[in-house]
Amino acid sequence: MSDVDLDVHRSGEDITEALRRDVREGLSAPQKWLPSKWFYDARGSELFERITELDEYYPTRCEREILRREAGEIAAVTGARTLVELGSGSSEKTRLLLDALSAHGTLREFVPLDVSESALAEAAEAIAGDYPDLTVRGVVGDFTEHLGLLPGERPRIVAFLGGTIGNFLPADRAKFLRSVRDVLTEGEWLLLGTDLVKDPGTLVRAYDDAQGVTAEFNRNVLRVLNERLGADADPAAFEHVAHWDAEHEWIEMRLRATSDTRVRIPGADLEVTFTAGEHVRTEISAKFRPSGVRAELAEAGLSLERWWTDERDRFGVSLSRAVA
Ligand code: SAH
Ligand code: TRP
Repeated sequence: MSDVDLDVHRSGEDITEALRRDVREGLSAPQKWLPSKWFYDARGSELFERITELDEYYPTRCEREILRREAGEIAAVTGARTLVELGSGSSEKTRLLLDALSAHGTLREFVPLDVSESALAEAAEAIAGDYPDLTVRGVVGDFTEHLGLLPGERPRIVAFLGGTIGNFLPADRAKFLRSVRDVLTEGEWLLLGTDLVKDPGTLVRAYDDAQGVTAEFNRNVLRVLNERLGADADPAAFEHVAHWDAEHEWIEMRLRATSDTRVRIPGADLEVTFTAGEHVRTEISAKFRPSGVRAELAEAGLSLERWWTDERDRFGVSLSRAVA
């Protein structure tokens, strides 16, 4: 196996310190919440990969369908020399882009960035092995903090797939898009995957599957608290809830205490009580309309050049370009 150098911006004590801060803020708020990046330790990344294979979880299949159809066009339009991928996970669908950009003859470098060191290391190694002509530079980091450090020959295309953009609250989303725009040079590219508004039944099933894999994924955040901060949360004392918020057009993931529960979190010097039925919000997954995607990109200084959906209009992929 080839050895790939990972650029680690986040490890050990840093991670624990960041988690401690987030836990103290989120779990002492009147409406308890936790940032979703804490799902993704090694176990969380594995569970997410299983989610992508579920019948109910359509986004991965729809986005793959679009990329398979349009990768050649993306390569021809952008002529990218570097592909940067944010929140890359397994980078499985990304191979369609790597293939097309390699065939087009421009691609030199692949830069996947993820908070999950295990997922990143595995993906980077596999891709370096399968694409020997490519420089693979993995970055372990947080895409809300470490975008300034992105290397790569220009022009670059930044891919942000899987609908992960929906996991930001609207104000944070605007900030994030602006920060992506700011690391790009005028004329460089963003390829963005956005899940679309559709009937609530389909949406809720995608986030509450029959086998309970998503429930296990959601509860994984409690195991992360236990491991990193010595907490004593009992995952079985919380049930998984996927709630469609029709006003905001997002799915909200919650962990709901089934009875009065106390969680001690020594590593954050905190004790948290839940009354029966009280919940902690662990993630939102916003769903988009095409006009909204175009407007939000424009607001960030990104001009939409192409828009594609899958055959059933469930998922959208946009290609936009940094403008002055
Ligand atoms: N792009 C993949 C994975 C999507 S799941 C796909 O389309 O299937 C979201 C990914 O983003 C996970 O791999 C997770 O580890 C990563 N992630 C979540 N929050 C992050 C953050 N703040 N910074 C960097 N990566 C993050
Ligand atoms: N980016 C994914 C999404 O919003 C993350 C995700 C999928 C997720 N299923 C989940 C997060 C279940 C929490 C719980 O679709």
